[in-house]
Amino acid sequence: MKTVVITGISGVLGSALGKYYLQQGWKVVGVSRQNNLEGDYFSELCTNQQKSEADARSLLKYDPDLIIVNAGQIETEVGAEGVPLVDQFEAITTVNYRFPALVGLAAADMKLNRRLDVVAIGSIADGSPSCFGPVYHASKIAVHYFYSGVGPIVHHANRNVRMRLYRPGAIKGPLAWAPINRLNEKGYKIRAKRVEGAPEGPEVVEKIANWISGDEWVGTYEEPFSFKIFKYLFALAPNAFYKLQLLGWRKGSKYTT
Ligand SMILES: NC(=O)c1ccc[n+]([C@@H]2O[C@H](COP(=O)([O-])OP(=O)(O)OC[C@H]3O[C@@H](n4cnc5c(N)ncnc54)[C@H](OP(=O)(O)O)[C@@H]3O)[C@@H](O)[C@H]2O)c1
Repeated sequence: MKTVVITGISGVLGSALGKYYLQQGWKVVGVSRQNNLEGDYFSELCTNQQKSEADARSLLKYDPDLIIVNAGQIETEVGAEGVPLVDQFEAITTVNYRFPALVGLAAADMKLNRRLDVVAIGSIADGSPSCFGPVYHASKIAVHYFYSGVGPIVHHANRNVRMRLYRPGAIKGPLAWAPINRLNEKGYKIRAKRVEGAPEGPEVVEKIANWISGDEWVGTYEEPFSFKIFKYLFALAPNAFYKLQLLGWRKGSKYTT
């Protein structure tokens, strides 16, 4: 029987992933910060704070074939004038970037006689305008760079380990709605359109699981053209990107009139 370890098991995507792999006959180790979580979407609960190197190493004790580092957080509160709050910054950076990176490094050290796939869940929102949640975007950009920069080194050092990345777009659920806390009415309408048209967790899981069973290093939702423009600018004209962000903040945030 194959074993998958899934972090963020209690969430929209995590619970749908758990159900999917159970149906496929896998053992599902569901990881949560909660110690009394119950549900029909995991075989075994692993309570883990997902902060330290020891937390990362303890996921490998299950001898998994697949680890999906899916837990994630977005800003649910902001400070005066929309400035990020330090405690949210710390928590988001840890769960979205540092912990997936630590899991990859812990896997690199394993003596394995079969393949281990470590899949980090990123996001296509990694270049969006500031008013939509820049702390989240920065943490997802960081994990993207880490996986595509350090992943090849790890794979060379330990051929059985594949650090891979999947970048979903909006999924119906509370996390997708969280970026509205800085938006004005215009920005809110743009977000509402995206979230209302977003697919449900199980539909997204079919795509992710299908991709995981293949050999690609990075899987992604089809991105809207507007997302691509931001990323091209970021890469090709960073000063123009910053200027566009300044303009976007004025147009889309509720803190400017
Ligand atoms: N929803 C979207 O629109 C969307 C779009 C693109 C990418 N994604 C990515 O997909 C993944 C899953 O999203 P989702 O919609 O399923 O989110 P979700 O429903 O909010 O679930 C995320 C889970 O992560 C855990 N978590 C949250 N903050 C944490 C922290 N600081 N430390 C450790 N665990 C934490 C929570 O589990 P416990 O409380 O049980 O620990 C929570 O149930 C995330 O990485 C997200 O960034 C989502």
